Amino acid sequence: MRQYSSKHRLLAWATLGGLLLAAPASWAAAPPEAATCIACHGADGMGNAAAGYPRLAGLPEKYLADQLRYFADGARNNAIMAGMAKPLTPAQVTALATYYAKLKPSGKPAPMPTGAAAAEGERLALRGDWDKGIPACIRCHGPGAVGVGENFPGLVGQSAAYIEAQIKAWKDGSRSGDPLGLMHTVALRMTDAQTQAVAQWLAAQPLSPAKSPANSASAKH
Ligand code: HEC
Ligand code: HEC
Repeated sequence: MRQYSSKHRLLAWATLGGLLLAAPASWAAAPPEAATCIACHGADGMGNAAAGYPRLAGLPEKYLADQLRYFADGARNNAIMAGMAKPLTPAQVTALATYYAKLKPSGKPAPMPTGAAAAEGERLALRGDWDKGIPACIRCHGPGAVGVGENFPGLVGQSAAYIEAQIKAWKDGSRSGDPLGLMHTVALRMTDAQTQAVAQWLAAQPLSPAKSPANSASAKH
């Protein structure tokens, strides 16, 4: 009798072990808290452009942890994310940031807009508007705007609507916490038309540093 049940248990363990081994690597690494996040940010961490849920996959770990703290303390004013971030312990914040930073971003860029706005978006992203004191986005966000180091998140893979909303949030004071107020300064100098143009151009860029030149709105260069 005894022998039978321990054999049974062994069998159960072996089956469970097999299931765990069969699970994709990203599952195995997902902390339990991520179960809630998936509803909006997706199992792949790429968010949902239409619903306004941003990409988290592959953003810098420190940046992600900072943002969760900003939502919790109100530096970043968003009712949904405040509710998500406030109950998290510091250890949970670290676990979630580590997990999402390691997920590989995936998916296709939005279609490239056409016309004068697209050319203006490209100009701002790659060269800036020095008359207005706006530096090129790629100076801080890296070549291809794919992100640099632990403070500068990639902008590619985010929807135009999300990028636009963030710049407006810095302008109206509902988003802060950015190191040295760098983005606040940039945002204040941008007109609404410029914000929209650059957001649409960025959303149309590929996720990884292009082997071929960046998707271009204008044929020149
Ligand atoms: C009900 C939907 C929803 C759920 C669930 C949710 N989020 Fe969010 N999340 C959002 C929205 C909306 C934003 C954009 C907020 C804004 O506009 O500032 C966001 C933004 C973020 C950002 C900022 C991203 C960036 O690029 O700056 C992080 C980090 C984040 N969420 C992490 C999480 C984590 C971790 C969880 C799970 C504990 C979670 N979210 C659960 C809707 C959600
Ligand atoms: C002087 C450096 C600098 C320049 C130039 C700059 N940024 Fe940023 N940007 C930052 C920093 C730093 C952050 C991260 C803020 C934080 O940690 O809260 C950021 C964050 C952002 C975010 C938020 C991303 C997210 O996932 O929520 C957007 C959108 C953004 N920048 C757009 C732009 C655009 C568009 C331009 C060009 C017009 C630009 N930035 C130029 C420094 C810069």
